[in-house]
Amino acid sequence: MSGARGQFSSKTGFVMAAAGSAVGLGNIWGFPTQTASNGGAAFVMVYFILAFLLAYPALMAELIIGRHANANVVSALSGLGRKPLTRFIGAGVGYYGIIVASLILSFYTIVAGWMIAYLGEPVTAVLGAEEAGTWLTTDSVTRNLIFGSGFAFLTMWIIGSGIENGIERWSTRLMPVLIGLLLCLIVYVLTQDGAMEGLKVYLLPDLSRVTDPKLIIDALGQAFFSLSLGVGTMLVYGSYLSKEESLPRLGAIVTFVDCGIAFTAGLLIIPAIYVAQHNGLTIYNDAGELIAGPSLIFQVLPSLFDSMGAAGTFVGFAFFALMSIAALTSSISMLEVPVSMTVEKTKLNRKQSTYLIGLTIFAISTTIIFNFDLLFTFVIDFTTKYSEPLLGVMLCIFAGWVMHRDKLLAEVSAGHPDIENSFFWKIWPTYVRFVCPVLILITFSQSMAG
Ligand code: PFF
Repeated sequence: MSGARGQFSSKTGFVMAAAGSAVGLGNIWGFPTQTASNGGAAFVMVYFILAFLLAYPALMAELIIGRHANANVVSALSGLGRKPLTRFIGAGVGYYGIIVASLILSFYTIVAGWMIAYLGEPVTAVLGAEEAGTWLTTDSVTRNLIFGSGFAFLTMWIIGSGIENGIERWSTRLMPVLIGLLLCLIVYVLTQDGAMEGLKVYLLPDLSRVTDPKLIIDALGQAFFSLSLGVGTMLVYGSYLSKEESLPRLGAIVTFVDCGIAFTAGLLIIPAIYVAQHNGLTIYNDAGELIAGPSLIFQVLPSLFDSMGAAGTFVGFAFFALMSIAALTSSISMLEVPVSMTVEKTKLNRKQSTYLIGLTIFAISTTIIFNFDLLFTFVIDFTTKYSEPLLGVMLCIFAGWVMHRDKLLAEVSAGHPDIENSFFWKIWPTYVRFVCPVLILITFSQSMAG
């Protein structure tokens, strides 16, 4: 059966794909800006602690369930239940995950379309086509539809090509390019005047903020979003993993890579903001807070690139290439969640399922584009603030309470024979049963109350 479903061909292929899913706009845009508005390195510290204490165990729950079931998220969760009610709830959680993954993809596609439009701007500058450049960087429904659909088709094309030939091949090609671009940009930005001030803000912790509830809630939400948790992405990627690989080890590598790239992205974005200030640009809004939202990426940074002269054209191109690649390797993982279910539950083949689902999701993106003020923030909040933590709790409950302990052990032991005596197995089962759901729920209810 696994042959028919497709599999990652190697450990590296899986790590590239899962890290590709995890490393996205959340790392390069979300993490640095959240850090900047939450007391600098204090946020970084809390984030890393939560990533390993809460997000990693939840990631393990998804990987274990996925590889055990060797199936899509709905079949995997409903298959764990022994009674009709738990099977029914499992299917419900699976469908909820699919809806949330699809909705995340619908807004992610719009944002990725902006990145691609801005990627084109330096090209128009080199060609002397100024008008075209202005059109690319001016918000319009037409521009958003053209570039959003371009990005959506790219995502569909990769997913339609399958696990090994699509997801694995493109993640393995694009992730090294992403890391290379990120490092080159950091080296350049750190040589600019003003960068060191940003580096200080980023690296010196304001320890008084460590216990700030807002900081903790933001850090947990960011960790879950960054590791693509709750919506079944990691569960499905786990289901394509061979039984010879050690899940706890691979999960830890993915968590390390994700945290590492988020941290590294901070070394680029925060110093860049301060270089912009040094070059005379405004980096605080009227309320005196650091500009962090879309205007940071689409106004402050492009103005910074403009102020760098000829080099700025290359820097701008490299930056938006970095953003576009980060978005693409994440979006393919989101599309795989509904597509894997459609392939396994209907008679449609992979290509048909991909285009049917992909076009449906793009229809949602189109609805958002036409009703932007009404829907954009609403969809982001519904999916990332409310749904992802709740789904995370449900997945921990399924791994900790519904899945039989012997089956859990059998699954983690595959590829890691001595696991029974390890530190991981001593704490993780209890942890995923009690600590994770309770802590996630406490943080979640605090964020509701706030
Ligand atoms: N992890 C991605 C990021 O940091 O941008 C976002 C994401 C990808 C969320 C895949 C959910 C998902 F299923």
